[in-house]
Amino acid sequence: MVSMVSRSKVLKFLSASALAVLLAGCGAPLSAHWQGFPPDGPERAAGKGAPQADASAAPGPDCSQVKCVALTFDDGPGPYTASLLDILDEHEAKATFFLIGKDIAKLPEVVREEAARGHEIGNHTWSHQDLAKISVAAAQRELRKTDAAIKEVTGASPTVIRPPYGTIREDLKKSLDLPVAMWSVDTFDWKTRDAKKTIKSAEKVVPGSIVLMHDIHPSTVKAMPTMLADLKARGFHFVTVSQLVGDPKPGTGYETGQQAAAGK
Ligand code: NI
Repeated sequence: MVSMVSRSKVLKFLSASALAVLLAGCGAPLSAHWQGFPPDGPERAAGKGAPQADASAAPGPDCSQVKCVALTFDDGPGPYTASLLDILDEHEAKATFFLIGKDIAKLPEVVREEAARGHEIGNHTWSHQDLAKISVAAAQRELRKTDAAIKEVTGASPTVIRPPYGTIREDLKKSLDLPVAMWSVDTFDWKTRDAKKTIKSAEKVVPGSIVLMHDIHPSTVKAMPTMLADLKARGFHFVTVSQLVGDPKPGTGYETGQQAAAGK
């Protein structure tokens, strides 16, 4: 099922766009109360990646020595995700997928492939709720149901959470047993739906960037070969959020990895 999907096939999908999956607003600005960065410290040691969904995944590059970026894809799985996985493989890129729980059962084989190919799986709530606007108990239900769906399909629990719209209550965040991944580069792919603009947005990437994208948009998947080639030409390695951060702590938010050593 997760075979090579040709570009023409993707375009057919596009024209058959019964798929007006309008999860717009996902890339909303960061909430003002967001607090992210843990201090630089010895714990930010190289190669100390958090547990991955796929234990057989090869260790990533040493992000204290080389330029790394974490590409992240929200709101999937979707009909373009399988072709994205092939593109990532072609560029030896690892990424992080923040999944919508209720959609996992629609494309379980795609989610299995995400994990099997060494990508990181994250929780993006069951039904794309704004976690700042619902009760802590309701938010925990959204997250727990999604945890269970991911575990059922991949055999492993997710390792990171991304709150929809980038908003989460401080008390909820602190109570979480997983780290929270925000972003430092917003491609606005959900808004522009334009591959060229998505490619251009990657010019803002610096070592340690976490890049926000959405694999439910064909324009985003179409942008990836060029974006990956451009970033590779600039010397970047593509790693998961946990690899980028090194040892992310539960209940803590991260907008970037700590990349001072490679910041050139
Ligand atoms: Ni989203």
